[in-house]
Amino acid sequence: MNWDEAYRKGEVYWDKGAPSLPLRQYLERHPAKGRTLVPGCGRGHEVALAAELGLDVTGLDIAPTAIAEAKAAYPKIADRFIVGDLFNPAAGLRGAFDVVLEHTCMSGLPPELRASYRRGIDLTLKPGGLLIGVWFINPNLDPGYAGPPFPFSVPALTALFADGYTIVDDYVPDVAFPGREGRERLRVLRRAG
Ligand SMILES: C[S@@+](CC[C@H](N)C(=O)[O-])C[C@H]1O[C@@H](n2cnc3c(N)ncnc32)[C@H](O)[C@@H]1O
Repeated sequence: MNWDEAYRKGEVYWDKGAPSLPLRQYLERHPAKGRTLVPGCGRGHEVALAAELGLDVTGLDIAPTAIAEAKAAYPKIADRFIVGDLFNPAAGLRGAFDVVLEHTCMSGLPPELRASYRRGIDLTLKPGGLLIGVWFINPNLDPGYAGPPFPFSVPALTALFADGYTIVDDYVPDVAFPGREGRERLRVLRRAG
């Protein structure tokens, strides 16, 4: 997938123009604190949400066009957005975050890159830190569709983080963007301290 090309062409069907409803609901009910990373932040809506809620947030994306568009959309927090690769994060991002917010980053990746995603989380999240995710589950809803997005089963998500993480919260949210009802799961994982 050429992510930057998708943004340059405006072919960003995943972008809903607003922060994730389940993520907002969770963070309003369970305020997080500390330095926060949004990997694969795209046009930055979840970064804006985190900033609105008072988090010290950084949005990271591999696509320069996405980051330029995020800065343009949210000029007051433009300095919060950086271009970079979650799989090989810059030195200043390593071990730096108390919280990682996941929203449609992992589901954009083909299954063979999920181990790299996990490694990227390990490289950026502090021991004891929280991975708060809206995960795109339910692969059976679109039989025959090859992706992206690449949904994953709940057991596959559990297996990916079985070693070194414990589940803190886990439920199917009762809010969603139209069309995503029943496809998302809010799962929060705490990295072992
Ligand atoms: C499906 S899009 C979701 C964007 C945004 N989270 C949203 O909900 O609109 C996946 C994003 O992950 C970014 N991405 C893919 N691989 C990445 C990597 N290795 N490091 C950082 N960002 C990456 C892409 O450029 C893209 O913006």
